[in-house]
Amino acid sequence: MTSTSEASAPEVVGVIGGGRMGAGIAQSFAAAGASVTVVESDERAATAAVERVATGLRRAAERGKLAEPVEEVLGRVATVASIGALPSAAGLVVEAVPEDARLKAEVLAAAERAVGAGTVLATNTSSLPVTELAAALDRPGRFLGMHFFNPVPASALVEIVVGPATEEATVERALGWTRALGKKDVVVKDSPGFASSRLGVALGLEAIRMVEEGVAAPEAIDDAMTLGYRHPMGPLRLTDLVGLDVRLAIAEHLHTTLGDRFAPPELLRAKVARGELGRKAGQGFYRWE
Ligand SMILES: NC(=O)c1ccc[n+]([C@@H]2O[C@H](COP(=O)([O-])OP(=O)(O)OC[C@H]3O[C@@H](n4cnc5c(N)ncnc54)[C@H](O)[C@@H]3O)[C@@H](O)[C@H]2O)c1
Repeated sequence: MTSTSEASAPEVVGVIGGGRMGAGIAQSFAAAGASVTVVESDERAATAAVERVATGLRRAAERGKLAEPVEEVLGRVATVASIGALPSAAGLVVEAVPEDARLKAEVLAAAERAVGAGTVLATNTSSLPVTELAAALDRPGRFLGMHFFNPVPASALVEIVVGPATEEATVERALGWTRALGKKDVVVKDSPGFASSRLGVALGLEAIRMVEEGVAAPEAIDDAMTLGYRHPMGPLRLTDLVGLDVRLAIAEHLHTTLGDRFAPPELLRAKVARGELGRKAGQGFYRWE
């Protein structure tokens, strides 16, 4: 998508939750010049968040992807223990707390009280409806989904999820910030699975049904996609990396919202029940050492 919006990062950014995704988001904005305040629930989690950002920055520096010394960028990242301590001047606040609708609604409402009327609020949810989260807010026009991918600093994409109340100016600002991070956007209307999970899971589920029906072995199915269609990774290997339990949860959500074409295959349920969750468990569709 092309846009005429600003292509510099906001000067001040807030990130709620400094876990895997939040730390990556904080790192990316700090590297693009922003002062970033990360909210973490306790001191141990805050220390871990800063350590994650520092590790990420060192890795980026080793690969020659950082324009400034690590310490300089890290000096722009601060942590606070409460959402009320977010800087009111923040241009953007992104929440990256765990995938729990009630928790997200709570932290977004608290963030809205802490910041100025001009601040854009974004959720990094990978599956919850933006429309539902917007209901917790007084200014839903300033709210949208910015769905970052893992690992954030190295990933090329941000899915911009637009709710029915999201104002056009909010979308434009998010597009500019995405560009300032050196990433590409896809703009999607709020709908189950957005664009990425919906298509990715559809392919993964069909591949699992093919194993179930004995059409071909997992390696062959993956080769068909990597060699035949130039996918960087086959759908079954990807399912192993994401985690079969994670994929099953998304499939169940899409089954409920979009219908039978997303019904999880029995083989997926059986593997999850046996604890064959993919790489993290040492066994999924492949054996992982
Ligand atoms: N992991 C992925 O691959 C991925 C990809 C895209 C989107 N997401 C989404 O990003 C979000 C975060 O996922 P993650 O993998 O980073 O989770 P995570 O568990 O690694 O991090 C969550 C962080 O939030 C903190 N937290 C919890 N409650 C809090 C509160 N009330 N205030 C402040 N901090 C709080 C936790 O201490 C933790 O550090 C989820 O919505 C997830 O669906 C994840």
